Amino acid sequence: MGSGLNTATLRLKVICLFAFISSWLGHTTFAQQPARGTISGQVAADQGQVIGFRVAAHNLDRRLWYTVFTNKEHYTVPQALPGKYEVTVFEPDYESPNETVQLGPGGSQTADLQIKKRAPVLVGGNIREPASSSGKIEYVNRIEDMFPPGPGLDNLKKNCTGCHFESFNGFGAMHYTKERFLESIEMMTETGPGYNPFVLALGRTPMSRQQKNVLADYLVKNFGPGTVEKRLRVDPLVVDEEIASKSIYVSYDVPADLPLIGRGNKVGADMVDGVIPQVPAIKFHHLQAAYISPVDGSIWFSSHSNSLLRLDSKSLDPVARWKNYPIKGDPFVQPSGIAIDKKGHVYWAELKTGLVGELDPVTGKQIRYALPEQAGAIEEVVVDKDDNIDFGLIWGSLFGRIDAVTRKIHMYPTPTPDNGIYGLAVDQHGNMWGGGWQKGDIIKWDADTELVKEYPVPNSWGEVRRIGVDSKGMVWASEYPSGNIVGLDPATGEISEYKIPVSGAKPYEAWADKQDNVWSSDQVHSTMIRLDHKTRKFTFYPMPQPNQSVPKIQVADDNTIWFGTRNLPITTAVHFYPNGYTAEAPPLP
Ligand code: HEC
Repeated sequence: MGSGLNTATLRLKVICLFAFISSWLGHTTFAQQPARGTISGQVAADQGQVIGFRVAAHNLDRRLWYTVFTNKEHYTVPQALPGKYEVTVFEPDYESPNETVQLGPGGSQTADLQIKKRAPVLVGGNIREPASSSGKIEYVNRIEDMFPPGPGLDNLKKNCTGCHFESFNGFGAMHYTKERFLESIEMMTETGPGYNPFVLALGRTPMSRQQKNVLADYLVKNFGPGTVEKRLRVDPLVVDEEIASKSIYVSYDVPADLPLIGRGNKVGADMVDGVIPQVPAIKFHHLQAAYISPVDGSIWFSSHSNSLLRLDSKSLDPVARWKNYPIKGDPFVQPSGIAIDKKGHVYWAELKTGLVGELDPVTGKQIRYALPEQAGAIEEVVVDKDDNIDFGLIWGSLFGRIDAVTRKIHMYPTPTPDNGIYGLAVDQHGNMWGGGWQKGDIIKWDADTELVKEYPVPNSWGEVRRIGVDSKGMVWASEYPSGNIVGLDPATGEISEYKIPVSGAKPYEAWADKQDNVWSSDQVHSTMIRLDHKTRKFTFYPMPQPNQSVPKIQVADDNTIWFGTRNLPITTAVHFYPNGYTAEAPPLP
């Protein structure tokens, strides 16, 4: 009997201990990972059809946004962190209420949204078209229809259309006399446009008097006084709501103390004290490139507020998740690309100063490297397999490399002057690949021979933008004016072009995921684009905000995608789950 009691007491003690441990465990788990809930509802519009509309749920406690898409007028935000929410529809042509929702741990809440059609408004971007200077616009289907055949066209395609294809800088809006066109050609080939000291647009491109004359004749004939401005027709993107509604964007508000910057450069202005004057009235945040640290998985962004930002994507604390590293020594270097080596040192490319920066986040020490020869503006920086730091000059047209060990800087000019290296990537062998912006080609720096070779893109109109290399070594690039994604097989030199099947699309990015799909972005339709090049199939995923332009993206090991937002009403670090949350890609914070 005594022993029976003892056994019972022991059993009770064990049960109590177990209960204590599990409650303690449960408590700790709760502190780190609160039970998630669901917000869902209907979206009804007074006019028009609700198809794949963006619904944004802003968690005000965690400073996080969940953006999902309607399917049959219904939306669901799955696995939402508890907290106070504002839920709204972001569609440019609709006004939406902002419904407040309090979501408890493990709870579920409904927010139905009744939206009203309105006249389209500018949502902070410069993406919508400007009015025509002549008041007359003819919309055409292909770029070829904007630039009819004739003497001078080849020269124009090779040297001018990359910068002057459409819109505010397009020839169609100029209506100049032959004399003014001739003067402008002189300016382009001698001093370059005035807004940036690094822009020597065509200063090294040989062009005879005769060629300039033929070019001016072509321009005045097609774009002179009395001509009708031609623009590329922009078809609306038909959203496939089955696909869109599977995806989810989780966006992190930028730190509240990140300094705002003025909108854009004042075109034509000269530098004052090393800074391009800004238009002061409109202030915005601007995150440029994203990079995932190979050391600890933190997400880094270059910001035009002259700093580098580190995001701990798993942190629930909206303040502590960010760390800001202001760039020292210059007020506005305009950091563009960033990359991180195996030691965790962060490198950035400076567009305004033409320097390469290095930050050791552990000590906070910064170094800014000046180039040994001819300066220019640096768009991107990448790190190769041996931790050499590679960079490309968009104005200046050189590849550069900082040796991983000696820290010596080597420069390699492109054979064609004024090519302009926009995107930059490094392949498995250590070869550098550049997007030739002005002349419309793909440029290779060979790691074995240290020679630079150019591969002209067959149907190019210039403006090859970003470039990437997939797991098999295939090189991918985007060509902005033509709407093509371009693939180069380095073994054969063969180039394939994949036309985005929506008129007016202008692809910016070309970056492969872990399954060798190529991701691009199109700010005209505010959409992410995935190309499965084996089947030539394009899939479109609307972005979280209308008029969103996506700078450099990064693909994580789980095939989710990171990027920053710029020049938009809401500035965030964006984490895109194209297939929604999966076992491999669970929600992070
Ligand atoms: C690297 C980009 C770039 C290239 C390449 C380029 N331009 Fe320009 N161009 C500009 C910019 C930027 C401006 C605006 C300059 C300013 O306002 O200071 C401009 C201005 C002009 C103008 C208007 C000048 C005026 O008086 O308003 C003409 C015409 C022109 N370019 C023609 C050409 C032609 C022809 C070519 C090819 C031979 C060419 N450009 C190549 C960037 C470029």
